[in-house]
Amino acid sequence: MAKGLRKGLTSYGDAGFSLFLRKAFIKAMGYSDDALERPIVGITNTYSDFNPCHGNVPALIEAAKRGVMLAGAMPMVFPTISIHESFAHPTSMYLRNLMAMDTEEMLRAQPMDAAIVIGGCDKTLPAQIMAAASVDLPTVVLPVGPMVVGHHKGEVLGACTDCRRLWAAHRAGTMDEQEIAAVNARLAPSVGTCMVMGTASTMAAVIEAMGLALPMSATIPAPHAERIRLAEASGALAARMAASGAPRPSDLITARSLRNAAVVLQAIGGSTNGVIHLAAIAGRLGLPFDLGMLDALGREVPVLVDLKPSGAHYMEHFHHAGGVPRLLARLGDLIDLDTPTVSGASLREIAASAEDVPGQDVIRPRGNPIKPQGSMAVLHGNLAPGGAIIKQAAASPALTQHTGRAVVFENVEDMARRIDDPALDVAADDVLVLRNTGPRGAPGMPEAGYLPIPLKLARAGVKDMVRVSDARMSGTAFGTIVLHITPEAAVGGPLALVETGDAIRLDLAGRRIDLLIDEAELARRAAALAARPQATAPARGYARLFDAAVLQADLGCDFDFLVPPPRD
Ligand code: FES
Repeated sequence: MAKGLRKGLTSYGDAGFSLFLRKAFIKAMGYSDDALERPIVGITNTYSDFNPCHGNVPALIEAAKRGVMLAGAMPMVFPTISIHESFAHPTSMYLRNLMAMDTEEMLRAQPMDAAIVIGGCDKTLPAQIMAAASVDLPTVVLPVGPMVVGHHKGEVLGACTDCRRLWAAHRAGTMDEQEIAAVNARLAPSVGTCMVMGTASTMAAVIEAMGLALPMSATIPAPHAERIRLAEASGALAARMAASGAPRPSDLITARSLRNAAVVLQAIGGSTNGVIHLAAIAGRLGLPFDLGMLDALGREVPVLVDLKPSGAHYMEHFHHAGGVPRLLARLGDLIDLDTPTVSGASLREIAASAEDVPGQDVIRPRGNPIKPQGSMAVLHGNLAPGGAIIKQAAASPALTQHTGRAVVFENVEDMARRIDDPALDVAADDVLVLRNTGPRGAPGMPEAGYLPIPLKLARAGVKDMVRVSDARMSGTAFGTIVLHITPEAAVGGPLALVETGDAIRLDLAGRRIDLLIDEAELARRAAALAARPQATAPARGYARLFDAAVLQADLGCDFDFLVPPPRD
């Protein structure tokens, strides 16, 4: 098989001419024949002025290139789409598959023997790994790393759990304009990803546990010199993989490593978004990410990592406590330690060499967990025949068995218009329902599932209510929040049938979310819904593609035409 510059020649009907032409052009950059004969490591560049989380990407690229060259291969850097959570309209999830397609096609089209994908802001690593899995090119994942923490009046602050908490305090009138402005400048004090156990940290940790990145890659703070050395080591590793052609993503993304990912997701108090991304990554190789398995693990695997929003600390503290290797050691037989990793070492070898930090209390022993059960649970019931997720680690225990009156919002705009209306008929024990916020409905399944507490209740001191939606929620958020209701309302799921005043029962212990109305009435409402005119599909472009092809949350919100048939 062709290697290096000879791979994937542009089609002119004459392979010799294609290579001649390719060399002629690349020599314009000053490369020597010696350089051009080497194995090639492609390195994605997701630096963007619109993506502060990736602000250290240029430095990581320089170090990764150094590592590649020290190991005798040729680094070639190329740009792909970059997505930041706060700079993606209507939502970053809407663009994840576009980034995955861009990355996949660039990995395929350009001649490279291995790749380093550098990402971190929530949707970027999932998109890059979906792409690498589809191409099945030897790939090293290099996360950009978490931000360091901020400080305000002696309090440690972190993006963006504290963004939400302090904004809620401002909404409730307990923090004035001047102070909220001061806080705004301190919540994100460095480049890097959000430093709580949000989606970025969650994905970085599960990716490290799946063996797709080098040890400690999830937790080294973005500005630290150690991360630059990690980039150099990732470059050297990718050069060796370019020469050997192994391991490929399909060697590492397996049923065993996906189960390990689910264990770690539960043990770190991980983001619910991780479920969607893992389903999408697994789906690219025809593998399931089984929600039943995730729920069963949630009953068995305790939350051991004490990070916000479920706990007290931040990513740099997780790092200084020993990071993912120490967590693997603490998980012991809950995890399959004999799975391979990109480095060639097994997880068992990585866990055995984990640093033992005396007195650290961030990564707890199994006998003294943060929560006795895992981060999240999977619900079913007549409201969610295809499943729903609740982050039980961040829920109020008093609300996890609760029946309340539904207060329904038709979509995000309706919620924004009415939620703070003093005339809104709502009480603290009601259940807030938001629909048409799923993969197709919004579109792009925005992180709107963290419905704000209605202003008049917030000012009366209400901190949490049961909230139900087909949306997602930021991994940095907290509350008794049922998410990812499947099928979503926009495709006719039962959530579309709820009316204000109906009773909804959340039964976390029984793993159910139910609408308490009789079958005949449900059937009458379903018939009336079916008779209503359908929404018009977008006329053109990516919006049209998205509308036609996006799958539901349980299948990772990938596009149907990107997913191969299930493996036997
Ligand atoms: Fe980029 Fe949070 S906004 S990781």
